Amino acid sequence: MQLKDKVAIITGGGSGIGIAYCERFLAEGAKVMIADIGDQQGQATADRLASKGEIAFQHTDIADEDSVRACVAATIERFGTIDILLNNAAIYGDYNPLDNSLAYVKQVFDVNVHGQWLMAKHVAPIMVEKRRGRIINIASIAGFIHQLGAFATDPNNFELGGYAYQHSKFSVIGLTRHMAGQLGQFGVTANCIAPGLVMTEATEVQVPGDFQPMFADMSATKSNTQPEDMVGPAVFFAGDDSQMVNGQLLCVDGGNIMPV
Ligand SMILES: NC(=O)c1ccc[n+]([C@@H]2O[C@H](COP(=O)([O-])OP(=O)(O)OC[C@H]3O[C@@H](n4cnc5c(N)ncnc54)[C@H](O)[C@@H]3O)[C@@H](O)[C@H]2O)c1
Repeated sequence: MQLKDKVAIITGGGSGIGIAYCERFLAEGAKVMIADIGDQQGQATADRLASKGEIAFQHTDIADEDSVRACVAATIERFGTIDILLNNAAIYGDYNPLDNSLAYVKQVFDVNVHGQWLMAKHVAPIMVEKRRGRIINIASIAGFIHQLGAFATDPNNFELGGYAYQHSKFSVIGLTRHMAGQLGQFGVTANCIAPGLVMTEATEVQVPGDFQPMFADMSATKSNTQPEDMVGPAVFFAGDDSQMVNGQLLCVDGGNIMPV
C-alpha cells in the first residue's frame, strides 16, 4: 500500500502498459483517473478494474488544453485532489514512421511532448499548493537509438528523414529536467522512465515479430520488457520513498541503454 489514498491521473491508461500501471496503482491503494483519448478502451479498462479499487475514466486529449482542464476538473470533482501525474499517453501504436511531413512531426510533438507539459501545467498548481506531488513522464530508449526510422540511401535523391517519435521521446527527458527544476522547491518531483521494447499490442504493430529478438539481443538480460516490469519503478517514483529523487531518468530495458 505504498500509494494508499493517493489520487493519480494516468494518461493513456486505457491500453497497453497503461493498464498495468492502473492495476498496480490500485493494488497499492491509489485512486485512479484514466485520461485517454480512446473512449472505448478507457471506459472498458475502468469497468474491468472497478472491483479492484476506485477508478474512473475521463475522455482526454492531452494535446488540447481545454480537454486537459476538463480532465483536471473531473478528477478533483471525483476524488478531491491530485497527488500523482503519470504522463504515459503518446502517439506510439499508431505512429507512422514514413510520414516525413512537418505537419505530422508537429502533431507527434503536440501529443508526446506538449501533451505532457499541458497535463503538468494544469496539475502542478494543485500539487504546489499541497507542497507535495509526483510527476512521472514516460520517455523511451528510442530517444537514444540513432539507427531507428526511415533512411534515405540515394545521395542523388536525398531527403533527411524525420523520426518524430524518437525526437519527441528525447525531448521528454529535457522536459522532465525543466519540471524538476521548477517544482522541486515546492516538494513536487518530476522524474522520467525510458522503457525498452515492451511487449504490448502497440509494439506488435510498431516492431514486427522478426525485429523483436534484435531488441532483446541489445539488452544485457537478452530479453524484452513486459508491461508488469514497468510498474515497480513507477510506484517508486510515485511514492514517499523517492522524495529526494528529482529530475532523474531511469531506463527500464534490462540493461541496454546505460546512461551515466
Ligand atoms: N511499448 C513499448 O515498447 C514502449 C517502449 C518505450 C516507450 N513506450 C511508451 O510507453 C507508453 C505506452 O506505450 P504502449 O505500448 O502502452 O502504447 P499504446 O499505444 O498502447 O498506448 C498509448 C495510449 O495513449 C493514448 N493516447 C494517444 N494519444 C492520446 C492523446 N492525444 N490524449 C490522450 N491519450 C492519448 C492511446 O489511446 C493509448 O491508450 C507510450 O508513451 C510509449 O511511447 C512504449
